[in-house]
Formats: sequence, C-alpha cells, structure tokens
Amino acid sequence: MIQRVIHSPIRPFAFSPIRPFAHSLTPMLTTAPSNSLHGTVSLPGDKSMSHRAALFAALADGETRIANFLDAGVTRRMLGALTALGVSWSLSENRLTVQGRGISGWSAPTAPIDCGNSGTTLRLLAGAIAAAGLPAVLDGSAGLRGRPMNRIVLPLQSMGVRLASAGGCAPLTFAAGDLPLSPPEHFLLNVPSAQVKTCLLLAGLSADRPVRILEPGPSRDHSERMLRAQGAVIRTGPAKSPDGAPVYEIVMEPPAALSPLRIKLPGDFSSAAFLIVAALITEGSDILIQGVGLNPTRTGLLDALGTMGANLAVSPVREEGGEPTGDIRVRHSRLSGTEVSGTLVVRMIDEFPALAVAAAFAQGPTLVSEAGELRNKESDRIRSLCAQLSAIGVTAEERPDGFRIQGARLPTGGIVHPAGDHRIAMALAVAGLGAGGPVAVADPEIITESFPGFAAALEGLGANVDA
Ligand code: S3P
Repeated sequence: MIQRVIHSPIRPFAFSPIRPFAHSLTPMLTTAPSNSLHGTVSLPGDKSMSHRAALFAALADGETRIANFLDAGVTRRMLGALTALGVSWSLSENRLTVQGRGISGWSAPTAPIDCGNSGTTLRLLAGAIAAAGLPAVLDGSAGLRGRPMNRIVLPLQSMGVRLASAGGCAPLTFAAGDLPLSPPEHFLLNVPSAQVKTCLLLAGLSADRPVRILEPGPSRDHSERMLRAQGAVIRTGPAKSPDGAPVYEIVMEPPAALSPLRIKLPGDFSSAAFLIVAALITEGSDILIQGVGLNPTRTGLLDALGTMGANLAVSPVREEGGEPTGDIRVRHSRLSGTEVSGTLVVRMIDEFPALAVAAAFAQGPTLVSEAGELRNKESDRIRSLCAQLSAIGVTAEERPDGFRIQGARLPTGGIVHPAGDHRIAMALAVAGLGAGGPVAVADPEIITESFPGFAAALEGLGANVDA
C-alpha cells in the first residue's frame, strides 16, 4: 500500500555504513544500499516550462502569475537576465509574478548577462534579444562556452540579426538591430532541438513574415503550447523537406502582442525519472509520484522502461497549464536490457543518465544509438556516464553515438565525479541505492541546478542518503 511518508524521519540503515568516505575534504552526497522505498512525493516545477513561463511572461503585456515555478540554479539565471533587461519580477514560495511590458519595454543590459551553465537560458534569451533588437552580450560558465552555438547563431544571422560569436560558441555579442527581422522561407534543423526551435520562434516575434521551422522529428513542444495560450497562432504537423525527406513542421505567424498568463506548472518529469529508477531497482519499493508533467514529447523514458519490464502505472491524466499531467506509481521490477534509437531518443533526451542506471541493474545488455547529441549537454554525457558508471563497477562501453551497458553485474560502489553535470550526479546517487556498497558523489551541489530537493525526496521515501 502507498503511504504518505514525505518528510518522515530517515529509516534505520539496513546495510552498509553510510559514511565510508567521511575523511574526504570534498563535499559528498553518499547513498547506500537501501530498504524498500515507499510513499508519495510531489516534485518541483518543470525546468523547461519554468524557463519559458518566466521569459514569455516578460515578453507579454501585463502581469503573469506562475505557481510551482522551479526555484533552482538554472532558473535563477533566467530571472537574473530578466532583471538585467529591466523586467520586474518577484518570487515567493515558488510563486513567480512577472510584470511584462511587452518586448519594447525591455532595456539594454549594462553588463554581459551570465547564463551560468544553462544552455536553455542562453539559447532562449538569444531569440528574445534578437526580437528586442537590443545590444547585449550573453555569456556563461567555461562549460557553457564549450557548447555549440552556431545552431542558433547562423539562423539568427540569416534573419538579419547582428550577432557575433566566439568561433561558434558563447559569448554571443548582439549589436543594436534593425527590426523587423526577415526570416528565410524555412529553417531546416539538422537535429531536433527545442532550444533552437524556441530561439527561432522568439526571434520570429519581431519578423515580417511567418517563421517556418522544419525539424527531423518533433522536439518538446512546451513553447508552442505556451505561446498559443498567449495568443500566438502556431501550426504544427508532419511535412516534407524541400528534398522530400519527412520532417516535422512548426509555423508561427508573428503575433501583434502576447497576453499574460495564469499558470500552474506540473512537476518535472526529468526529475521524476531519477525517483522512478530508484524505486525500480530497490527491492520491495512501491512509490507514487504526483502531479508530474506527462507531455508525450518528454515521456520516452516510460516507453523505454516499459520494454524493460518496468511495473509502472500512470493515472489519471489531466490537463493543467495547457499540458497533460498525472501521477506515476512505480513498483520494484525485474528489468531486462533494451535498445533505444531513432525518434525515442529525442523524447527522452535528458533521461539517458537515469536509463543507464536502470540498464546497469537489468538482465542483459542495453544499447543506445543515434544519440550523439548527448555529447552536447551539460557534459559529454556519453563519456561521463560510461566513465563514472565504470568507476562503480558497471560494464559500460562508450560508442560514437551512444553506449552499451552490460547489466546484471552488481555495481560495487565507490567515489564518482559528475563533471559539473546535475543529471549525472543524480543518476549515480540513485545507483548507490542498489549497489553492493555506497556511492559517494563529489561536488553534489550541482544537483541544485535543477532539483534542489533531490536528496530530501529520496530520504522522504526511505532511501539511505547522507547529504
Ligand atoms: C530543453 C531542450 C533540450 C534539453 C534541455 C532543455 C528545453 O535541449 O536537453 O535540458 O528546455 O528546450 P536541446 O534543445 O538542445 O535538445
């Protein structure tokens, strides 16, 4: 039976001592083999939607109120940028209020905007700054400076945006621009990317003709849903590229103005992914995750885990804030290996660290291919996943466009280094719950980039955690 146990005291530890690495000077989050996980948990708001809700509110005319806003490292970067652009907002207990004055109400920032390690902040802001025609510099951490930006720089330049990059990377320097922008007949994207798509849609707010984007397949569609709710006319569906290849088309008419919103954001499915895998791999577990976003462009992990034999029940699915939302019940399951490639990859693009841990505890191999885009995330996730899983005794083999994990060998545990990547850190911490010995995650504060209550949520479910 599912009981409400969140914020309950930590259960007595069943197996190994939790502080075997206590002599280390580096801050650590240590997880150890656990009793079964039980209880009900609700999660912080969706990261992608929080970024969009804040930024789109700043582009609207009037006051927007957002409930269950994700207050985390990356979204604080977006809010800091809005301040730098002259937009007022207030945040109290995950309720964000933004005073939008339309895009013409923005002012030029007086210093470079620091997007930290947040690719979403930088790429979405780039589109909005292009539409505002303001001089600005967008910069970030060394990690963000290493990520590819030509995927937005070149299309923005082709619309007439006066923009320079550092060899295809941040910092991006925008000169004051002439509006309106003139998009080409279409943009043909090489890889499906919601960040690129959203950047171009936002630039299209100041265009003299519709923006038409052709993606190899549909990426997450939060922007389309939210912009429609704000009054934009957006058409989407399957189409053909000029050379006859099947593509997914998104066409937006430049709206005269955007309306403010009242919106409650669902829990982040990408955060839920770690708790789902934690319950699946921990003997006897039975948990309920409430109010999670279930947008089908995001839930590919449920399909992949389904093919692995995961005992998952999703109900009831209801519409909230223009998005399907529901509860996910997860019970411990005997998993078998699977294969992931093709269109499933984009539907679970942020969930490969969680999948890799499920694969490590499955019978038989799991093969991920056509997922080279994982090399362009907060870390090179193919490399960092395989290296860190190997460090705790998992047989993980790097491939150019994915990885192969040979399951069914109990990870031994050990010290891991998440390479400044919040999702790698959370995945490795989850692996510790089912391993033969504790897993100590170095520099765990990176987790607060997207899921500040991660360790507390695991503890509340009864996991053996020392933060
Ligand atoms: C995001 C899109 C994805 C995802 C990222 C958030 C978004 O990136 O990996 O965490 O909010 O649009 P890409 O668009 O680069 O695939």
